[in-house]
Amino acid sequence: MFSFRSVAALLASALHVSSANARGFYAHYMVGGIIEGTDHAARDIDDASALGFDAFALNIGAPDADWATGAIKQLFDYADNTDFKLFFSVDFYQESNIDAYNKLLQDYVGRPSYLRAGDDNYPVVSSFSVGEHDPARFRKWKWESLGDQMYLLPNADNAPGYSNPGSWFQGDWGNTVDGVFGWETAWPWGGNQPENVSSGFDTEVLNAAHSQGKTYMAPLSPLQFKDCCGQKNYRIGEVNLPQRMAQLLTLSPDFVEFITWNDAGESHYIGNIWSESQVNEDIKKYANNEDWPHFGWQPLIASFGNAYKHGHGPDGMRPQSDDEVIGAMWYRTFLSSGSCNGNKPANWKSAVDAVNWALVVDQGVTDFKVRVSSGGQIISETKLSPGLNYAASAGVRQGAQKIEVVRGNTVVKVAKSAKQVTDGSEHCFYNFQVAGLE
Ligand SMILES: *[C@@H]1O[C@H](CO)[C@@H](O)[C@H](O)[C@H]1NC(C)=O
Repeated sequence: MFSFRSVAALLASALHVSSANARGFYAHYMVGGIIEGTDHAARDIDDASALGFDAFALNIGAPDADWATGAIKQLFDYADNTDFKLFFSVDFYQESNIDAYNKLLQDYVGRPSYLRAGDDNYPVVSSFSVGEHDPARFRKWKWESLGDQMYLLPNADNAPGYSNPGSWFQGDWGNTVDGVFGWETAWPWGGNQPENVSSGFDTEVLNAAHSQGKTYMAPLSPLQFKDCCGQKNYRIGEVNLPQRMAQLLTLSPDFVEFITWNDAGESHYIGNIWSESQVNEDIKKYANNEDWPHFGWQPLIASFGNAYKHGHGPDGMRPQSDDEVIGAMWYRTFLSSGSCNGNKPANWKSAVDAVNWALVVDQGVTDFKVRVSSGGQIISETKLSPGLNYAASAGVRQGAQKIEVVRGNTVVKVAKSAKQVTDGSEHCFYNFQVAGLE
């Protein structure tokens, strides 16, 4: 016999189908200072929009600071005249007082460019962690800040009980949130040996969320390397980006948030890093547009975004340009076994010395292969298929790195290293050199 609860759950999951079809593709955006009179806010929005992103999740950790409110105003003023959306992701690690965000929310949720979701079309509010707050505190906040008109999509990784998503969603948390956002599953934890990323926990969360008529926003990210502010951490890395793309295209979550557009400190940026946004001199050494550009990943992101929105699998990924093949290679500048001055980051033993590459080949093109050269020697040759192809080609040698896409005896496209691989390094930087196919 049907209980009211199971009928309600059925109704909710039926309703859910329509919102799931929306498949929003967002990028986490660190709000730093933006100098007024520059075109930086416009450039970021135009660049992200061109890649197929629907919105930025604006990471707010200093809701009252002039540099933050000034940047937020510029972003909204520009976005209001485009189709691009913005929403707040409140950072409880930086500002733990939940009420400190109220004024900002009230000031901006009415903007035309503020992202809305769900059957009630409420403004989306996300977070980084849930801080110390319990469900009752979140409900009080929803009521007091926005009169209960909020689509609450917090990052729940640190919420008590979340490791068991089934019971978590059936309890008080499930009654409070509209959906959840994962962060930590973007990368494997790592440790002392190589490890691959997994969508196992994402699958559990998504199923538990859907059974209660809630949504799941899954994270996608290339790596994490942080060497500042007293922290030195590495989360691999290697083929994490394309492997996770393939997993997420199979999972097909309600939303995907790319981590991140511009977080220099954690090395997982793909957009511009404006000099005025970077407060820390340590970060500038291992993350900047000149020596460590990550623009080469952008065509892969665009291809993923398109496949995700259309419900295609990894084989259905296509170049979002007129090219027959797009993609990139990436590698570290010194051998992991080599020496560097100072301490290597946590989890460095999970790193693999490899020339990593991902290539997306157009429909019907079956006569390409990729040739990987390291230090002047060919270390691998692989036939390519339409859709997503990727590998970590092991056996990196010191010197220049290169991948070539070859048809017969003709080199069609190439990606070349801007920096050579050396045995040792002055710094223990585990950020990647990323070279786009040209
Ligand atoms: C990780 O995935 C790659 C590509 O599928 C595979 O070749 C490799 O063996 C995996 N590594 C581990 C440690 O499972």
